[in-house]
Order: sequence, then structure tokens, then C-alpha cells
Amino acid sequence: MRKPLIAGNWKMNGSRNSIAELLGGVSAGLAVLDEKIDVVVCPPFAYLAQVVNAVNESRIQVGGQNLSSHSPGAYTGEIAAEMLVDQGCRYVIVGHSERRTLYGEVDEIVALKSRVASQATLIPIICVGENLEERDQNRTIEVVRRQLLAVLQENEGRLFSGAVVAYEPVWAIGTGRTATPEQAQEVHTEIRNTIGETDSEGAREVRILYGGSVKPENVEALFSCPDIDGGLIGGASLVASDFLSICKAAEN
Ligand code: PGA
Repeated sequence: MRKPLIAGNWKMNGSRNSIAELLGGVSAGLAVLDEKIDVVVCPPFAYLAQVVNAVNESRIQVGGQNLSSHSPGAYTGEIAAEMLVDQGCRYVIVGHSERRTLYGEVDEIVALKSRVASQATLIPIICVGENLEERDQNRTIEVVRRQLLAVLQENEGRLFSGAVVAYEPVWAIGTGRTATPEQAQEVHTEIRNTIGETDSEGAREVRILYGGSVKPENVEALFSCPDIDGGLIGGASLVASDFLSICKAAEN
């Protein structure tokens, strides 16, 4: 059985005070739940140390939102995988659509970053997903397969050990518009099948998260789909009660 995973992507939000408050609420709420799911929060780099200290005694794990594809050295403004590990991170988001569209991260960079993360013992949360134009042109499967195959090719057809895939339709991110459970399940099945073409064990074990305007109101229907193994949560991860409702739904 795949253990559900809920990951909060805080993006470029938060302050020392707001983060202390948010984490206080989330850890208190999680303390009374069973430990049937993994819970991760991905703060901005500047707050990693604060968050790692604060979650020390709790079951919450910490992830970065991005990493450099390079080893430590002369790369101003970048953060190496080793540094995330050193700070206490277990996960890292790779190839989020905001990185792809705003910072030019093409498939090959996303593939390379997945390798670098994995070699540093981080669990990459590899994001894939089509934009609205691509969906309207019926190219969703083609785009998601292309993004995924680039990552698989980087490792001779095998998914990096323990790697997580997040399907995030770009048109659903931060828009309040969510994929229907049927739309999400269709793409999740395709993701699992694509991995299964060259890595049957990887396909069985990979956790495939759905992301894009997940909220307490739509989470149950999404999580009842057989190939949805959790969520990558943006906006709702900044509100303790919403994030906890989503975690609860994943436990059921
Ligand atoms: P959202 O963001 O939940 O605010 O749509 C999801 C994401 O970008 O990971």
C-alpha cells in the first residue's frame, strides 16, 4: 500500500511570526490524528532553519521548493541539494510550473535536478502538468508524458528511488478551478502507466499527488480516486484549519 502524502507548498509567503503561528496550529491538529499519512511543509529557503527547529518533535517533515542542479561553488543566489539535507530537509519540489514558466526550467533541467536531489538522498516531488491551451488542444497526455519521460530517461527508464510525482494542471493552480476527480484520475493513470512501461516496480510504488486549488471542499472526491495518493497544496497550506482538513481527508 502506498502511504498518502500531503505536501504544503508555501511558495514565497510567510514571516517569522506567521510561520510560527501556522506551524503551531498544524502540529497541534496533527498530534490528535493517526500517523497514516506523511506530512511535509516546504517553506521559503530563508525560513528553513526556523521550520526545522519548530517541527523537531512533531511528525511534520520539511522540504525545499527548488534546488540548484550544481554542486556547491560559484553560483550566486543558488541552494545546493547538500545544503537542503544539511538544514534537515527530506524532500524537495522539482519543476513546479512556476519554475518552468517564470524561470525557464525546461524538461532537461527538471530531469537533472531530480537526479541531483535523489543522489543527495532527498525525495524529489517532480511536478508535471499541462497549461490551459494544451488542455484545450487535447494535448494533456502528450505534454505530461513528455515531461515525465525526460525524468525517466535521466535514469535509464527507472523512476528515481522513492520519487514522488505531482500532477498539477497549470490552469488549476491558484485559480480556484480544480480538475474534476475524473480528469485527475485519467492523468494519474497515464502517469503510472508511463512509468510502468520501463519500471513496473516504480509504477506500483510511486506516490502521485494531485495539485491545483485543492481545498477542504473538494478534497474528499479527489482523494477517493484510486491513483491519487495525496496532494501538493498551495494556498490552502497557509491556513492551518484548511491544511488540517485536507490531512484528515487523506487519513480516511
Ligand atoms: P494552489 O497551488 O493549491 O494554490 O492551487 C498548488 C501548487 O502550486 O503547488
